[in-house]
Amino acid sequence: MTKTEKLWWQEAVVYQLYPRSFADANGDGRGDFEGIRSHLDYLRDLGIDAIWMSPCFPSPQRDHGYDVADYFDVEPTYGTLDDFDRLVADAKARKIRIMLDIVPNHCSSDHAWFQAALKAAPGSPERARFWFRDGKGPNGDEPPNNWRAIFGGPAWTRVTEADGSPGQWYEHTFTPWQPDFNWYNHDVLDYFDRMLVFWFDRGVDGIRVDAVPVLGKHPDMPDSPPAPPGLTDGQQWRYNIYGHFYPTAHDVWKRWRTVIDDYERTHPGRHLVTISESYGPPEELLRYMQGDEFHQSFAFDLMLITWLAAPIRAAITDSLDMLASVGGAPAWTLNNHDTQRIVTRLGRLNANDPAAWTGNNLLYVDAPIDLELGRRRARAAVTLAAALPGALYLYQGEELGLEEVLDMPDQAREDPLFIRSNGKELGRDGCRVPLPWTTDATTSYGFSPAPVAPWLPQPKDWADLSAERQVADPQSMLAWYRTVLAHRPLLSGDLQWVDTDLPECVAFERDGALILANVGPDAIELPAELVSGRSLILASQPDATMQLVPSDTCVWMSPAH
Ligand code: NOJ
Repeated sequence: MTKTEKLWWQEAVVYQLYPRSFADANGDGRGDFEGIRSHLDYLRDLGIDAIWMSPCFPSPQRDHGYDVADYFDVEPTYGTLDDFDRLVADAKARKIRIMLDIVPNHCSSDHAWFQAALKAAPGSPERARFWFRDGKGPNGDEPPNNWRAIFGGPAWTRVTEADGSPGQWYEHTFTPWQPDFNWYNHDVLDYFDRMLVFWFDRGVDGIRVDAVPVLGKHPDMPDSPPAPPGLTDGQQWRYNIYGHFYPTAHDVWKRWRTVIDDYERTHPGRHLVTISESYGPPEELLRYMQGDEFHQSFAFDLMLITWLAAPIRAAITDSLDMLASVGGAPAWTLNNHDTQRIVTRLGRLNANDPAAWTGNNLLYVDAPIDLELGRRRARAAVTLAAALPGALYLYQGEELGLEEVLDMPDQAREDPLFIRSNGKELGRDGCRVPLPWTTDATTSYGFSPAPVAPWLPQPKDWADLSAERQVADPQSMLAWYRTVLAHRPLLSGDLQWVDTDLPECVAFERDGALILANVGPDAIELPAELVSGRSLILASQPDATMQLVPSDTCVWMSPAH
């Protein structure tokens, strides 16, 4: 490979697949590998390069897989390792690579190591793999420090010792069912080294790494400095300088990179990718991307900002600038399984009011929603994001224009964020509702093969949003995603901003091709000097022309000749 040739992941379109909600082949109301396998042609036709699967390891599913009970096997309700291997092979036959979601900060409290730690004595090697500490106060009945868990409540839970007495406490960043690993412990380091190779040997080509900023922890676990008042527990974590972006984690990521680089060296032709999930300031993200840690880090800003030209431009510039210094390219994303779906987000009537925006993927603003407006903006947004240099990560269902399901009954909600915050935070179930494949409501719109209740209820009107209906409709969101992704290879080169003076306009060129998004409420007339000699490649609304770009519309034009 020459220096100028790109590696597959640098400009890839990656489809995040939430296995529990993608497709159910065995009729238990939850997705499975066979369900995924049966829809691989759909994914190929969409035009993706890789699937990133949210965790598919054995798990009690208290955080739907982000609580792993065994890192060397697959979730039995999804299938067997043989089913997994078949899925990898069938995907590869369609030129689709498989990436896994690795959760290193914590495991499930059902993990054999944690169960052994509970039975073992304080100070034992079994407990040293986690963060067990004596409590404070005369009887040790106060948590060892003041840390709060991201999903609510203290970050410590007290155990009962083998003799029945109240015992030590263990630390957990998220929920009591997700005890944090101690990454200074060599058993932990070795275990994950082996695990990476185990999955690469099965044909996995990359990993998304969960909750990267919280893995490093001060070994003495001091109290965190006080956070400003009025924040949720999750927001407070950001002020925990001893458990958030704590620098010793870099030793872990460097070690992983050595494992990966060695694997590539010993397996010629294999090119692996690691992408870090970290919400945080650019300077912190950059530290993970110095060439000897992660290959990519999500550029989340486009997903978190208001629908206004200035913040969109700033989000793009900040990500590009940040990565330019290390020669990297961003991994853009508009949706994921932790964030309210874009159709709902941008359909809120205050989506372009900076004062009303939370900028946090877990906290939702409240305002009337116009879903048609949201879908129109979502079309424009993906047209813009797909035109940027770098990789594009999609989240299942966005290609169907699904909205967030907000009116789900409380009893149906399963997200630990909802449960641990006592319903104060609505949580993320609304973006995890099983996909509608057909118009047949009796089978959960083809999600299941028979009439069984899906694990989360679907809205009554999703027949129109089903893949079956959209495949047949050239104006559908699905048809639009296919069009945009098919045209993406036409664009190449660095991004050069175009200064237009037009209101609410985001405009740039790549090798002379012009990409222009009007994110404002009024149509904009394009000056002749901007468009002369060009032709329209595509437009997110059918009534866009070379002269007039309607509101909430993105167009691509050829270079001028
Ligand atoms: C981030 C994941 O994206 C989220 O879904 C999960 O709940 C937490 N990390 C804990 O693993």
